Amino acid sequence: MVSLGLVPQNKHTCTHSILQGPMSDALRFIRRLITQPKTVGAVAPSSRALGRAMAAQIDVHGEGPILELGPGTGVATAALIARGIALERITAIEYDPHFARLIAQRFPGLSVINGDAFELDKTLGAQFIEPFIGAISGVPLLNHSMERRQVFIDGVLRRLKPGSPYVQFSYGLNCPVTPVAGVTVSQVAFVLLNLPPARVWVYRRT
Ligand SMILES: C[S@@+](CC[C@H](N)C(=O)[O-])C[C@H]1O[C@@H](n2cnc3c(N)ncnc32)[C@H](O)[C@@H]1O
Repeated sequence: MVSLGLVPQNKHTCTHSILQGPMSDALRFIRRLITQPKTVGAVAPSSRALGRAMAAQIDVHGEGPILELGPGTGVATAALIARGIALERITAIEYDPHFARLIAQRFPGLSVINGDAFELDKTLGAQFIEPFIGAISGVPLLNHSMERRQVFIDGVLRRLKPGSPYVQFSYGLNCPVTPVAGVTVSQVAFVLLNLPPARVWVYRRT
């Protein structure tokens, strides 16, 4: 059981290079999963195919910042950068201090906040007021009640420009959050090359 109360918010700016690679990331993930099962919510980092499927939903020609929630070891972050999105445009919120430190080191220049995506306004603080043009989330929503998920998605959509995508992957068959009035949802990908296979959902506020 993991408390989702207030956690320290540190902006990491360390620039050391660190051990990379799918195997070391898989081991890191398993270690975090054992200590924080509800927060990590997956047996392995997303595959590159899943990272690409998520990043593909972000308009590379759009202007403005991009939000990433629950980046873990940075698979989707890397996919965003590979699409040509400057990493200075990405703000990543990661609950787990180990992963937050890891991606700050792995992607120098990335804005990393070690905080709670469920407390989005508090976590972003006054510094990030410009609406985001897209959000990507790996936060394991199915580990939370539907009521909490609704509050979560509402908080994210309010920080996005209307019509911008909030991209969420999920291992379930159905969309992880039932959309309320004024919100649309569509499944944009089913990625078999992932452990386990995952669906990518896009929510938009109309
Ligand atoms: C299933 S993993 C996905 C990691 C990564 N996005 C990927 O695709 O490999 C879930 C990630 O969400 C993070 N997380 C869980 N709850 C969170 C919260 N409330 N706020 C921010 N990050 C959270 C976990 O620490 C973990 O890094």
